[in-house]
Amino acid sequence: MRRAAHQLHDAEPLVFEDPLAVRILGKEHFEEVKRTPDGAKRPFSAALRAFMVVRARLAEDVLAAGVREQGVRQYLVLGAGLDTFACRNPYAKVRVFEVDHPATQKWKEEMLKAAGIVVPASARFVAVDFEKDSLRAKLKAAGFDDGVPTVTAWLGVVPYLTMEGFRATMRLLARFREGSEVVFDYSQPREALPPVEQLMHDSLSARVAMAGEPFQLFFTPEQLAQELEWLGMRVVEDLDGAAMTARYLAGRKDGLLLRGKAGRICVAAAMGAKAGEMRD
Ligand SMILES: C[S@@+](CC[C@H](N)C(=O)[O-])C[C@H]1O[C@@H](n2cnc3c(N)ncnc32)[C@H](O)[C@@H]1O
Repeated sequence: MRRAAHQLHDAEPLVFEDPLAVRILGKEHFEEVKRTPDGAKRPFSAALRAFMVVRARLAEDVLAAGVREQGVRQYLVLGAGLDTFACRNPYAKVRVFEVDHPATQKWKEEMLKAAGIVVPASARFVAVDFEKDSLRAKLKAAGFDDGVPTVTAWLGVVPYLTMEGFRATMRLLARFREGSEVVFDYSQPREALPPVEQLMHDSLSARVAMAGEPFQLFFTPEQLAQELEWLGMRVVEDLDGAAMTARYLAGRKDGLLLRGKAGRICVAAAMGAKAGEMRD
């Protein structure tokens, strides 16, 4: 809904252009998004929207660079939610694997059908519970090729996982073919935030917990860098609000601004394993 609100309410040039973001929502949710007030009236809502569109844009920018420069031929979208890339993939040679919790994926397929959006043959939907299933086995069964450089988008998911779930997935990504990268966002722990942001953190945490998916995993940038190194990934960049603003939001006058230091986005590169050496 926030990606859709961006298409409807924010000024050109948009940070993230997604012609399907509104369509996939259907009539009922569209009416709700139409009512979303502007950034100046709801600054925290706009800040959350800014973070979400920046992370979506960054993932697709990393994919574009990977296709151009690293021979990337697969895009793996983990915890895809209502991400629409699979249905507007502009790269004839890139296959898209959309992984999500079985319940979310079923709901999305119903939304796509109701909206009349066709899923192209280049896309595969793979139902996986990161906490229970072997992602590796499910991907293999769906035709995922570990010998092909792959960009993975893992957006809006890491804070909902256990440390074990995070590590199991990251270990797998670390063994993808050299030239593979992952883009994911993460949140800093409450105690690393200034007092006013601790209140924002509490309010958002309470909302997602009420929706049945509580936040449970947090990192400081230092903890994350250590963890990734241990798991066999190299941090390419770890963007804070200032870096995201400089890259994507500088000079905007429509109230689409990031606030606070809680949310960060990390791009990490697989150290690489020889094709076929993927292990759990
Ligand atoms: C906040 S949404 C983010 C969706 C999308 N990536 C985006 O950026 O809009 C979180 C997604 O993580 C998925 N998710 C959360 N826990 C999961 C788990 N244990 N296994 C698989 N998917 C999970 C949910 O199904 C949902 O699609």
